[in-house]
Amino acid sequence: MRVIRKSTYEEASMACAELIASQIRLKPDCKIGLATGSTPVGTYKALVDMYKAGSLDFSKVTSANLDEYRGLGGDHDQSYRYFMNTNLFDHVNIDKNKTYVPNGLEADAEKACTDYDKILESLGHLDIQLLGIGGDGHIGFNEPADAFCVNTQCIDLEEQTIKDNARLFFNGDMSAVPTQAYTMGIGYIMKSETVILMATGAGKKDIVEKAFCGPVTPYVPASILQLHPNVVVIGDEAAISDAVVAAAK
Ligand code: PGA
Repeated sequence: MRVIRKSTYEEASMACAELIASQIRLKPDCKIGLATGSTPVGTYKALVDMYKAGSLDFSKVTSANLDEYRGLGGDHDQSYRYFMNTNLFDHVNIDKNKTYVPNGLEADAEKACTDYDKILESLGHLDIQLLGIGGDGHIGFNEPADAFCVNTQCIDLEEQTIKDNARLFFNGDMSAVPTQAYTMGIGYIMKSETVILMATGAGKKDIVEKAFCGPVTPYVPASILQLHPNVVVIGDEAAISDAVVAAAK
């Protein structure tokens, strides 16, 4: 595990964008796993700036997103497809036909999950998977559970996740947050060549420490990343404790 700790959110976002940009420059047809939420917004902004400056070309890149709310279509302004379009895809030259997000409008949960797994299987492993971390340790929407879930699943969102998401999105209205989501499984996340977990803000400090310094347990889903051979944790000083820095050595 490598840890990159920066003073500010902006610096951490730039470091994260630089890692992703290096991958794209090294392998223009790379496959990248993308995340939503408030954490990666600065990273996407930095990537858009690089594209606009002419130093980055997304034309051959394929992307696969971690998750989508069950019941929301891509034109719903709180859907993750909409988030990706407005924060990144609409502003760069990526081919949208090669950007994958689970289909939130597929009401048949089993089919939605199988369909997404088929897409992921057809992509093979990803070169980079970008992750945030939930306050309860979730990655994607893989919430704490009795076992790590391997494949794409339909998940009941935890109360804390619904609260966190209402606070940041949905105009703060908890009743508007869907209660279920489709999420890429942990098995596929672990297959990625490199995993970047980004965490910023004091609210993430305890959970990041639990994930990387505590026991590997499905009750803290991100803790499985301790077993991944190539993980980079990027964050600001508020989120990354000395213990996490020490764990990298
Ligand atoms: P956040 O969400 O970036 O909005 O904090 C992270 C996550 O839930 O994975």
